[in-house]
Amino acid sequence: MENKEQEIKAPTIIAPPSRGRGVHVFAPATVANVVCGFDVLGFAVNEPGDEVIMRLTSKPGITISKITGDDGRLPLDPAKNTVSVSVQHYLQSVDRTDVGLDIELHKKMPIGSGLGSSSASTVAGLYAIKTLLGDDADPAKLLPFAMKGEEMACGHGHADNVAPALLGGFVLIRSYDPLDVIRLPHPAGLYCAIVFPDVDVPTREARQIIRQKINMKDAVTQWGNIAGLVSGLFMQDIDLIGRSMTDILVEPVRSMLIPDFYKMREIAMGMGAVSFGISGSGPSVFAFTKDEETAKLITQKLQQHLTSIKIGSNIYVSTINDAGPKVLG
Ligand code: HSE
Repeated sequence: MENKEQEIKAPTIIAPPSRGRGVHVFAPATVANVVCGFDVLGFAVNEPGDEVIMRLTSKPGITISKITGDDGRLPLDPAKNTVSVSVQHYLQSVDRTDVGLDIELHKKMPIGSGLGSSSASTVAGLYAIKTLLGDDADPAKLLPFAMKGEEMACGHGHADNVAPALLGGFVLIRSYDPLDVIRLPHPAGLYCAIVFPDVDVPTREARQIIRQKINMKDAVTQWGNIAGLVSGLFMQDIDLIGRSMTDILVEPVRSMLIPDFYKMREIAMGMGAVSFGISGSGPSVFAFTKDEETAKLITQKLQQHLTSIKIGSNIYVSTINDAGPKVLG
C-alpha cells in the first residue's frame, strides 16, 4: 500500500462520541531490523505489549491521568508524551480537535529495551482513538501518526517498529518517501526467543554510533542477505531465513553496547537456534527457532548466563503476532 500523510482524508464514518465512553487497547512489542534489514524490516510478537485506556471527556483537549509500569520515566504532560502527541496529530488530520480525551498508559514492557516500547504505546493510543471515534479507515492510515511518535521518542521517524505493531505480522518498509509498506508472509512454525538484558540502550544514542557511510562490497553482502531473508519468508524456508540473517553493517557496532553479545550468540546457536541477533537498537536480543521447546531452553540458558555476570533480564517466547492491536474492552 502507498500512504502519505498529506493524502490522508478525514474518515467518512465518525460516530458522534458519547461522553464517558472508553476503550481498553493492547498493542504488541516488535522486533525491528530482523538483523539485516536496518530500518526496513520488523515483526510483532504476542508478548510483551502495552495497554492504553482512553475515555471521552466533555472538555476538548487531551489529558493523561495515569501512567503505570514506567518508574516515573514518562511525561504526563500531553505535549511531551508520544501517545498524546500522535493522537493529537490524528485528531487534527480528521478535523476533530473538539474531542476531549483522557488517557491511561499501562507500560507492560521495559523502556529502552529494543522491543519497540514507545511504538507499542503509540499504536495502542492511535488504535484506541480510531475505535472510540468509529473510524473504519484501514489501520495502515494511522502509520504516519505513529511515525510522528517515533520521531519524538528517538529523533527519527522510522517505521519498522510501528508498522508491525499496527498491522501485525512481518512487515517490510519498501520505501519511506513515498511510504510503501508491505506485509510479508512467514512460516507458521517460527518461534522467537527474546532476552532483554537489564541495561539501558536508548535508541537515540544507538542510532548516533552507527556508520553513516558504507562501501559497495558491504552493501552487496547486506542487500543479498535482505533479499535472501524476504525470499525465505515467501518460500517458507527456515534454513534460508537463518543463513540470510547476518548483519555486517550495524551489529558489529551496536553489539558493543550489549553485555556478552557474542557469547550469547554462541550459546543460542549451539542450542539449535536458526538465527540470533539484536532486537531493534538493543539491548534485547532474539533468536528464531523451529520449535517452542528450543526457544524456551535458549531463553533460560541466556538468562542463566546473564545472571552469572550479574545482569538481570526478562525473557519471552512467542510466535509471530499476526493480529496487531487488540481491543480488550
Ligand atoms: N530501526 C531502528 C533502529 C529500530 O535500529 O534504530 C529501533 O528499535
